[in-house]
Amino acid sequence: MGAFVGINYFRSKEKAEETLKEVKRYSDGILLHGNVGKFDEAGKIVREFVDVAGRIDILVNNAGIYKRNKFEEISEQQWDEIIETNLKSCYNMCIHSLKHMKEGGKIIFISSQLAFRGSSHGADYAASKAGMLGLMRSLALELAARKINVNAIAPGTIDTDIIAGYSREQRMRRIEEIPLKRLGTPEDIANVCLFLASNLADYITGEVILVTGGLYIG
Ligand SMILES: NC(=O)c1ccc[n+]([C@@H]2O[C@H](COP(=O)([O-])OP(=O)(O)OC[C@H]3O[C@@H](n4cnc5c(N)ncnc54)[C@H](OP(=O)(O)O)[C@@H]3O)[C@@H](O)[C@H]2O)c1
Repeated sequence: MGAFVGINYFRSKEKAEETLKEVKRYSDGILLHGNVGKFDEAGKIVREFVDVAGRIDILVNNAGIYKRNKFEEISEQQWDEIIETNLKSCYNMCIHSLKHMKEGGKIIFISSQLAFRGSSHGADYAASKAGMLGLMRSLALELAARKINVNAIAPGTIDTDIIAGYSREQRMRRIEEIPLKRLGTPEDIANVCLFLASNLADYITGEVILVTGGLYIG
């Protein structure tokens, strides 16, 4: 929709290049690189973007990892990695970006339906995604005075690399459970992001939109 887009990647350079190519069909953007879970790297990512774009109007906290483990199999190292990548990254990116965001700015958190439901194979992930919502609501309250809107999307099961480990049977079983009878697509999430990033959502802040095909109605 005409925005200049900074696309950050950590491990997947080629996929980031493909995404930038797609973005360039509509507008323009740059690639950025770094681990958003690390405070200083997040600062470098933001600086590099602002050096080119001059300011930040929209921040999407999208980075996330999931590891399928029962609670007692979660090592301390895994717990720290999940919390750092999924939750601390949001603190890191918000605190660095806010210096460059003016009135009318939008911050969007990509949480998960598991923030509400919990997860029988990912307590660390569910905790990180619920933590994001606490941060999101707090920022919405604090930043309302600056007219910056802060909201979250809680996706259901979306057909991306994060569910690449699902067997065919698991996919079919999940589709059967979803009232709309299909997995979500990245576009299903991007469309809601676009709405929240636009002026159409100027009177919405501190809100979570579930995008689950009806899997979680709560
Ligand atoms: N797919 C689902 O069913 C689902 C459901 C609910 C919520 N979500 C959330 O949606 C978001 C996007 O996930 P996805 O489904 O698109 O999965 P994905 O394809 O695995 O994408 C994960 C993204 O996070 C980035 N990332 C991971 N660790 C990072 C780090 N330390 N620093 C910077 N970037 C990092 C990855 O970049 P690199 O590949 O370059 O490392 C990749 O772009 C995640 O927050 C996920 O938790 C997904």
